[in-house]
Amino acid sequence: MDHIQLQIKDVAAFLPEEEILKQASQAVACNQALHDGSRVGNDFLGWVSLPSSIREAELREIEEAAAGLRSRCEAVVVVGIGGSYLGARAVIDALNDSFDWLQEPSKRKNPVILYAGNNISEDYLHELMSYLGEKPFGLINISKSGTTTEPALAFRLLKDLLESKVGKEEARQRIVAVTDAARGALRTLADSEGYKTFVIPDNVGGRYSVLTPVGLLPIAVAGINIRKLVEGAREIEKAAAASTAFDYNLPAIYAVIRNELYNRGKKIEILVNYHPKLHFLAEWWKQLFGESEGKENVGIFPAAVDFTTDLHSMGQWIQEGERTIFETVLSIGKPSKKVTIPHDDRDLDGLNYLEGKRVDEVNKMAELGTRIAHVDGGVPNLLIELPELNEKYIGQLVYFFEKACGISGYLLGINPFDQPGVEAYKKNMFALLEKPGFEEASRAIKARL
Ligand code: PA5
Repeated sequence: MDHIQLQIKDVAAFLPEEEILKQASQAVACNQALHDGSRVGNDFLGWVSLPSSIREAELREIEEAAAGLRSRCEAVVVVGIGGSYLGARAVIDALNDSFDWLQEPSKRKNPVILYAGNNISEDYLHELMSYLGEKPFGLINISKSGTTTEPALAFRLLKDLLESKVGKEEARQRIVAVTDAARGALRTLADSEGYKTFVIPDNVGGRYSVLTPVGLLPIAVAGINIRKLVEGAREIEKAAAASTAFDYNLPAIYAVIRNELYNRGKKIEILVNYHPKLHFLAEWWKQLFGESEGKENVGIFPAAVDFTTDLHSMGQWIQEGERTIFETVLSIGKPSKKVTIPHDDRDLDGLNYLEGKRVDEVNKMAELGTRIAHVDGGVPNLLIELPELNEKYIGQLVYFFEKACGISGYLLGINPFDQPGVEAYKKNMFALLEKPGFEEASRAIKARL
C-alpha cells in the first residue's frame, strides 16, 4: 500500500452504503467546483493545485534560507497563529524526534523549534525570553495580514531581545518574514529592515497554507525533507483530481460520510490518534474543519483526543455519553523505532505474558479493542491508515484533509474559505484596549460592563 487508506466498514451499521452512494454525484460536483472555481470562495482556491505547481526554484530558496537559519541558530522561534502556525507545528511534531530538543546542543540533530505569537500570555513570553537567554536564536515571523495582534506583539519583544543580544546587523541575518507580497505591516517592516522574505500567495488562506513557505520554511528548518512532503501531497492531488470517480476519491468519500453522519445527528467528530506525535496534527485539523465549516449556525464540531492517554479521561464520555459523536481514527501501520517488552523474573506487574512483544503490538490491540468497544457503544468509526509516519504519508494526509474539507464545506452549503466570525473578539478586544479608530466601539462596550 503506497497511499493512505480510508476504511469505512465501521460506519456501515449507522449509515448504509446506498445512502453514501446517493451523495456521490453531488460530491463529485463539489470536487469539480474546487477545480473550476464555480462556487463561493473561489478567490481562495490556490491550494488546490499547490503541490503540483510548486517550482524547483521555490523549494531551493526555502531550503537555502532554512540552511542559513540552521547554521546560525541553536533555537528558532516560529512566530505566528492559527493558519500561520499550526501546519508547521503539526508536521514538525509528527516527524521529528520528540526529545531531540532536550539533548545537549552538540548532540542535537536539529535546532530547537519554539513557538510564539499563538497566545498573549505574559508568563509564556517571559519564560520563552528567559530560555532564549544567551542562546543563538533566530526568528521566522509569519503573518499573512501582518496585523494580527498576537504575533505582532511577540515579534516586537523577540526582535528587541535578539537585537539587544547580537546587534541589528546579525539580527537581520537571523530573521525571516513570511507575509503578503505587497501589503500589510509585516511587509513594510521586513522591507524597511531588509529581512529575507517569502510570500504567502493571495489565493491561499491561512489554514490551507501548510504547503507554502508558511509551513515549508519552519518544516525545512526542523530538518524535514520538504520535497518528500510535497511529493506526498502531489500524489493525493492526482488521486483526487476533478476527473476521479467517487469510488476512488478518498477525500470525497470522507466528506460525504461526515456530512451524512452530521445529518443523522452526529454533531461532533473526534479525531483520534494513538501517538503523542500527532497531537498537533489534530490541532491543525481542528482549525481546518472548524474554521471552514462552523458558520451560518451549522457545522460539525471538530474535537480531538490522544489515546490511550485520553481513554483514561474522556473514554467514559465517548463510550457512554450522548450519542452525538463519531470518530475518525488516524492509524499508523508501523512505528519507526523498535522497543520490545523485557522478561522480569518476579513478574510483579503481571506483564510477562507480553514478553518479547513490541510495545506497538500492545498499542495496536488497544486501538482495535477501543474501536470495537466504541462501535458497540454507538459511535461510528472511520479509519485513516498511514503505513508509517514519514514525510510522504504526512504530505498525503495534509492534502487529503484539505481536499475533503473543501468538498465537505460545499456539501454543507457554506463558504469553506472565509472566517467572518473570528473578527468579533478582535473588535471587542480593540475597543477595550482603546485602539485608535475604535473610540465609538470603546464607549459602547464599556457601557455594557
Ligand atoms: O486560517 C486563518 O485564516 C487564520 O487562522 C489566520 O491564519 C490567523 O488568524 C493568522 O492570520 P495572519 O497570518 O494574517 O496573521
